[in-house]
Amino acid sequence: MSQEQKRRLLVVSNRLPAVVERRGEEWQITSGSGGLVTALAPVMRQQQGLWIGWPGCGDEAPLGPLLAQFAQDNGYSLAAVPLSADEVEKYYRGFSNEALWPLFHDLLGFCRFSYDNWQVYLDVNRRFAQVVTEHAKADDLIWVHDYQLIGVGEHLRALQMPQPLGYFLHIPFPAPDLFRRLPWKDQLIRALLAYDLLGFQTLRDRRNFVNTASSLLPEIEVISRKRQYDLLRFEGRTVRVGHFPISIDFDEFDSGARSKEVEDAAWYLHENLHGRQLMLGVDRLDYTKGIPERFLAFERALEKYPELITKISLMQLVVPSRTLVPDYQNLKETLDQLAGRINARFGESMWNPIYYVFRSLDRTQLLARYRTSEIALVTPLRDGMNLVAKEYCASSVENNGVLILSEFTGAADQLGKGALLVNPYDIEGTADAIHQAYVMGPDERRRRMKLLRNEIRRNDVHRWLNSFTQALYSS
Ligand code: ADP
Ligand code: F6P
Repeated sequence: MSQEQKRRLLVVSNRLPAVVERRGEEWQITSGSGGLVTALAPVMRQQQGLWIGWPGCGDEAPLGPLLAQFAQDNGYSLAAVPLSADEVEKYYRGFSNEALWPLFHDLLGFCRFSYDNWQVYLDVNRRFAQVVTEHAKADDLIWVHDYQLIGVGEHLRALQMPQPLGYFLHIPFPAPDLFRRLPWKDQLIRALLAYDLLGFQTLRDRRNFVNTASSLLPEIEVISRKRQYDLLRFEGRTVRVGHFPISIDFDEFDSGARSKEVEDAAWYLHENLHGRQLMLGVDRLDYTKGIPERFLAFERALEKYPELITKISLMQLVVPSRTLVPDYQNLKETLDQLAGRINARFGESMWNPIYYVFRSLDRTQLLARYRTSEIALVTPLRDGMNLVAKEYCASSVENNGVLILSEFTGAADQLGKGALLVNPYDIEGTADAIHQAYVMGPDERRRRMKLLRNEIRRNDVHRWLNSFTQALYSS
């Protein structure tokens, strides 16, 4: 183990991997969802680190015993930053999810900019920094995550934090022209430049950042461009800017998918399908995921290729997300209507085109669906990485699945050779890809899936952690 790997990992993210909620008279703790938690949880277990974040509640909850129980069950510790209702409204819902999220996903039409929300975003970032200084030890590896906490590094510097500061953005970084629409663009870029290492998902995101920063702050000097990172000089400090595509714990998914419970659950699912192919979609309920476009593409495939009727079903699993944001509530209604319409139009007594499930599935049930589905339909309009695509391949242990993947996901950079790449806005093209996947023979399926699995096995989440920490400490 290298010196870097021996350090305690102190992760700071908006959400803890656990959500504390009141259910009737009782307080309960459950697992959080989303790609950040999926990727970081195995790393934290391995490193026995400390995770600082929002527990999903305010300070009225009896956090001590609940978090201690979680630490005991999971092998790493948690420290909470409770948020008031006003902070949730302005920092989380308002600025993070109604300004930064759509802007960074190229969806300007969904953006709402408010000065009041921006101020509360800065205040909450300052509070996170304060909590970090209360818990950090001298040689901790300090690593701040995602768009909700861009400002934490700047405050840590002001609080004289001596450790190198790492930051990773899980979502895309937009092109300069789009980023310029943000009223507080210069402040946000300066805040990012307070870190020692900035990690992005793809080379495109890294270039977008360097181009944006250099055009907004001409005093930035690009000292060198290496394969792993660019070196910038700004206000007398050097800042590294690299790209580190996040991944999953391949072995955990592969061995989980081979387990007896998953095999039984997969067999049971297919037994009820009577020789049909199953096409799977798994997403948080989010307008960036392109779920309505996916339903329309499937409808078009049924129209254009009538031989698919009764021979294939789309199983769409959707986990509720950000239910406070009106655009997310509207999306639920759109999906309900579309699924209802398509099922009414094509459905037959023994066959439904779309099975639409609106809840989180437990691990066994999720892996069983990954393992048994002949096709995965992963079609976000824009996505930083998309771990569902990687989870599907790692769980496709019979090498017979076909991945249809949006070219606008970070994952397309690594999985483009084995997947069928589509433009999710192109309904006709996606319908053709569904048909191509359906008729693909076993040899071609195996060849493609082997490529995909080898790529994910080689570049797993542990490699991601190593390359980030090496870049943070390299001289
Ligand atoms: P994001 O980070 O935007 O949510 P990702 O695809 O990177 O997108 O990660 C989503 C994570 O959430 C994956 O680990 C996936 O397994 C999990 N997930 C999504 N939907 C469900 C569901 N219905 N049930 C269980 N897990 C889900
Ligand atoms: O990077 C995507 C992300 O925002 C993560 O920070 C988070 O894990 C996930 O989406 C879920 O979002 P939220 O915490 O808003 O429910």
